[in-house]
Order: sequence, then C-alpha cells, then structure tokens
Amino acid sequence: MIDTHSHINMIEKTSVDQVIKQAKDNGIDKIIVPSAYPKDIDVVMSLVETHVNVYGMLGVHPTEVKDWTDDLIDKIKEYSKHPKIVAIGEIGLDYYWDKSFNDLQKEVFIKQIKLANELNLPISIHDREAHKDTFDILKEYNTNSKIIMHCFSGSVEFAKECINQGWFIALGGVVTFKNAQKMKDVAKSIPLEYLLLETDAPYLTPTPFRGEENQPAYIKYIAEEIASLRGISVEEIANITTQNAIKVFEL
Ligand code: NI
Repeated sequence: MIDTHSHINMIEKTSVDQVIKQAKDNGIDKIIVPSAYPKDIDVVMSLVETHVNVYGMLGVHPTEVKDWTDDLIDKIKEYSKHPKIVAIGEIGLDYYWDKSFNDLQKEVFIKQIKLANELNLPISIHDREAHKDTFDILKEYNTNSKIIMHCFSGSVEFAKECINQGWFIALGGVVTFKNAQKMKDVAKSIPLEYLLLETDAPYLTPTPFRGEENQPAYIKYIAEEIASLRGISVEEIANITTQNAIKVFEL
C-alpha cells in the first residue's frame, strides 16, 4: 500500500528510519511526504534523497501563507525537477483557525495552482471549512493538474461534485472514528477508482490508536475499515488504492 500524505518529518516519538521500517513491516512500501511550512521544502528534499521509499510534495499550507514569498516559486520549480517530487502540496484554504487572512490564502493558493499547472504536477488540496471557495477556485484556475482532495471532510454530495470534476478523494483515520458517520458514508459511496489512502501522520490517528501519534503503518486500519464498510476484502481495497496512487502520482 501507499501512504499518499504523511508528514513523517513531524513525527516526534519515533525516528524516521523506524517509521519507515514499521511501515514496510505492515505492507506500506511507499510514503509521500508533503511540505506545510516553507522550511519543510528543504526537509522533504533531504528525505527523498536519503530514503528509497519516500517521495515528496512541495508547497505552502494555507495556515502558513504569511511566510510565503514569491521567490519560493523559483525554488519549487528548480526542486521539482527531482524525479521523486511527485506533486505540489499541501495547498488550499483553511477557514477553521483564523479568518483574518482568507484573501492572502486565496492569492497564494492560486499562485501555487498555476505553478502546478506549469510543472504539470498533481495537487494535494487542503480544504478545511472552505469547500465552496476551494471548489470554485480550482474550477476557475486549474487547467491540467490532477487534483487530490486530501483529508476529505465534505459530504457525500460534495464528494460526488469533486468526482464529477475527475478529482480524487483521499481518506484517512477519521473514517475509523465511531462518530464519523459522514466520512463512513463517503467511504461507502464513492467509486473505488477515485479513492486514495493516507494517514496525514502525525495527526488523525485511526482507531485503535486514536490519541497516540499517527504513522504510515496505521494505513492498514483505514483500509480495513473501508473494506468492511463496503463489504469487500482488504486486499481489494489495497490493490485498487495502490494502483490509483501509482497512476495519479506517476510513481
Ligand atoms: Ni497534511
């Protein structure tokens, strides 16, 4: 299996080498690490160069756009020539924490969409309580990048709208939470060819480890939950989502 979105650089209690080993022992042979802060861009580059199973995404997270400078465009362009940089991300809109700089978020989001289009790389989208603006901006500005709705948090209806655009839906630990009926409904209803698995480690740890630090090895709990919701085998979920990830990120 592939963990398509995992901040392994932010895991504190387990070393990167140990995290990768535990992932491998649990059937996860590729991990894609996004950037969130501008400083992560160098961290991601060093991780992809030192670990065969690690791939990277470059970009600035919506809550960190106050640190955005336009020279990052040239830096990302240069670094994305590396064959293991497979997407731009994570980028998008986050209206949950602080609404005072929504306009700056939109501006930087649009700049990074254009960059991804120019580089012809997929985009890992962070959308928290900003479904409508995220959707509208992507529809207006994205010309050719494949879209992955990372940590999808919308309704079944919104998932369908995204899939109608050809966008992928990435599900993580939330689907295993007892009270997360909305995400369980999404996991049951979307066509499998649009589904990706991710942990978003170190956050959103699935049951039965909820409350502890998340890591890529726990993808299996997410796959098991989705398989049981859909009444199919874990192998089937693993196979299809792995093929989807290989296709989307051209691994
Ligand atoms: Ni993330």
